[in-house]
Amino acid sequence: MKEKENQRSLHHNQKNLVNVTMKLFAKSTAYVILLLLSYTLGYLSSTTSYSYTPPQPLTDDGPAIVPANQLDNFRVTTRCADSLPSQLVRQTIVDRIFNATSPYANFPPPHVSQLLRTKRVKGWGSYGGVFERLIKKVRPRVVVEVGTFLGASALHMANLTRQLGLETQILCVDDFRGWPGFRDKFKDIHMINGDVLLYYQFMQNVIYFNATDTVLPLPYSSGSALMKLCEWGVVGDLIEIDAGHDFNSAWADINRAWRILRPGGVIFGHDYFTAADNRGVRRAVNLFAKINGLQVQTDGQHWVIDSTVNV
Ligand SMILES: C[S@@+](CC[C@H](N)C(=O)[O-])C[C@H]1O[C@@H](n2cnc3c(N)ncnc32)[C@H](O)[C@@H]1O
Ligand SMILES: *[C@@H]1O[C@H](CO)[C@@H](O)[C@H](O)[C@H]1NC(C)=O
Ligand SMILES: *[C@@H]1O[C@H](CO)[C@@H](O)[C@H](O)[C@H]1NC(C)=O
Ligand SMILES: *[C@@H]1O[C@H](CO)[C@@H](O)[C@H](O)[C@H]1NC(C)=O
Repeated sequence: MKEKENQRSLHHNQKNLVNVTMKLFAKSTAYVILLLLSYTLGYLSSTTSYSYTPPQPLTDDGPAIVPANQLDNFRVTTRCADSLPSQLVRQTIVDRIFNATSPYANFPPPHVSQLLRTKRVKGWGSYGGVFERLIKKVRPRVVVEVGTFLGASALHMANLTRQLGLETQILCVDDFRGWPGFRDKFKDIHMINGDVLLYYQFMQNVIYFNATDTVLPLPYSSGSALMKLCEWGVVGDLIEIDAGHDFNSAWADINRAWRILRPGGVIFGHDYFTAADNRGVRRAVNLFAKINGLQVQTDGQHWVIDSTVNV
């Protein structure tokens, strides 16, 4: 009797098991079919809307080719503020960065006055004809220079704008650190507790050349300074890029600077032909121009992109 009952219950259990398995099977078959279906549909739709383009190597000479479906990576969604009238630019920067006091006031501070030279300027290609040609062409009211060092190119531009009777502000973006070890070649630039006095010597040079009304430093990294200018609506009619010469630095500086270029303005930079970082500047400039449909011109050692000229 007990045995029979056991058997029956066993039989019952087996039946249950079969039932459950059947249901499970039906369910999982549905899953498999659904999966196959969605995969096929996805595959079909994806092959119709994208065509695969193999990545192209970046070459030294030709502009790079970027597959259209990879351009999304370069998208920036923040917007710059409406552009400030150029006559408000200087005061805006003095207010926002220098607590409303000219950085040249009470210069030099006592702890550096003995350590500065009356004038100490050294640049690279800072007197090239490109400066005069572009300043005559653009007649800029605001120039943004990214990479200033001791001020050679900035003071040259101040001379040129003054000669043309333009009332130009030249904003000098530089962290005024140079680069680690730059004092191997500039031993006369002093250092206090590891703080190089590049900023103070630059200020001294601006004062020496009577250019304090024209030239204003923005002593910060190019990334943070350019982002703030965008946020404050400061735009440049002419922008010069001459800071880091590796691809990543040049790429970031050009892209950030482009956002604060006044429509119709010109952006240009040094060392298009330099071997630094396997022609990092050139690769960055070419890639940028390619993506934005712009034309790269060269002038001496400089590259020039005129925002009014499209390819
Ligand atoms: C080649 S020098 C500029 C020379 C200057 N345009 C001239 O012709 O006289 C490069 C300058 O870029 C600055 N620099 C490099 N990377 C920077 C960064 N990320 N932010 C701010 N300044 C930077 C250095 O401090 C250095 O003074
Ligand atoms: C900014 O300027 C105001 C007014 O001149 C002054 O009271 C204040 O101490 C200054 N702040 C700093 C951080 O220098
Ligand atoms: C600016 O021009 C003056 C006179 O033309 C010249 O003496 C001076 O060296 C120039 N300064 C720079 C920084 O080019
Ligand atoms: C700066 O201005 C002073 C006073 O007007 C003048 O004596 C000096 O020659 C000027 N310096 C330069 C480099 O132009």
